[in-house]
Amino acid sequence: GLPTEVTIYEVGPRDGLQNEKAVVDVEVKSAFVKRLLGAGLPIVEATSFVHPKWVPQLADAEALMTGLSADLGERARELPVLVPNARGLERALDLGLRHVAVFASATETFAAKNLNRTLDSQFDMFEPTVAQALDAGVDVRGYVSMCFGDPWEGAVPVRQVVAVGKRLLELGVGQLSLGDTIGVATAGHVKALVAAFGEAGVEPGRLALHFHDTYGQALTNVHAGLQAGVTTYDASAGGLGGCPYARSATGNLATEDLVWFLTGLGIEHGVDLDAVVATSTWMAGELGRPSPSAVVRALGGA
Ligand code: HMG
Ligand code: MG
Repeated sequence: GLPTEVTIYEVGPRDGLQNEKAVVDVEVKSAFVKRLLGAGLPIVEATSFVHPKWVPQLADAEALMTGLSADLGERARELPVLVPNARGLERALDLGLRHVAVFASATETFAAKNLNRTLDSQFDMFEPTVAQALDAGVDVRGYVSMCFGDPWEGAVPVRQVVAVGKRLLELGVGQLSLGDTIGVATAGHVKALVAAFGEAGVEPGRLALHFHDTYGQALTNVHAGLQAGVTTYDASAGGLGGCPYARSATGNLATEDLVWFLTGLGIEHGVDLDAVVATSTWMAGELGRPSPSAVVRALGGA
């Protein structure tokens, strides 16, 4: 049967806002994070400690996390943030943060575009970063991007994805989040990828699935993931999101769509749907355009 409980890993403030053309005011970001926590989302990825020239939208990471720490105390230090390298980790540790995520590419082209590294040399950056984080008692998530298709290289072989994922696990990352960066995954491909990890000795409990909804398949893909035993799903409030370095990446699976779907299956998630919809409706007003999520449009009255 399907799992009875699922963890929703909210990425709106990070994956959503990294892709906005306009830089969102730090006070608005802070309110967004707090509202999402208030809606019962157990994990809210807040920002990235990447190079500010690469992602100017998140150049206020220090200001955001300092403000959240003042408001939320310990709770703010539990919010995960992206760190690509030792410099990013140092910035996160300076603020006392306890959860970081490194992000790898499954393809050569995206490693170059997103990280300025080769498929192989990206690990030279992750190795000391993960080691130092673990030494400091900080939990590390490992993302793998382009797990299904890549805009430059086409379909990505499952073997190639498993190899990159295994290398991250060997460095000591806790959870592996498999990213469909450009939203081309299908249910059959999800099933095949989770099975390939299983054959390589990686249980579905170590995996999270991270879908973008370009082809409208994200929920069907979640269903395939549930059938394969995966219990953590990344989602973005209102369906915000994309990647500035991945051509054709559109919004993430909307948190509201996921919540509606899980509730329909009787799967526990602990999230207050109305509170997330209200948050996304408010955020759509701040951003000046409607949410792409069908559930937000149906329930939001906007
Ligand atoms: P690089 O240019 O190769 O950096 O960029 P470098 O290591 O050569 O360093 C150059 C300079 O940058 C140095 O300064 C460093 O100190 C500084 P200098 O000594 O010349 O004065 N620097 C930094 N400054 C602040 N914070 C840092 C940092 N690192 C170096 N962390 C780098 C390499 C990784 C930094 C760059 O490529 C980068 O920042 N990339 C981030 C791209 C990004 O954020 N993409 C979006 C997130 S991934 C995603 O969205 C996918 C996901 O959602 C899953 C999915 O959908 O698949 C997770
Ligand atoms: Mg993403």
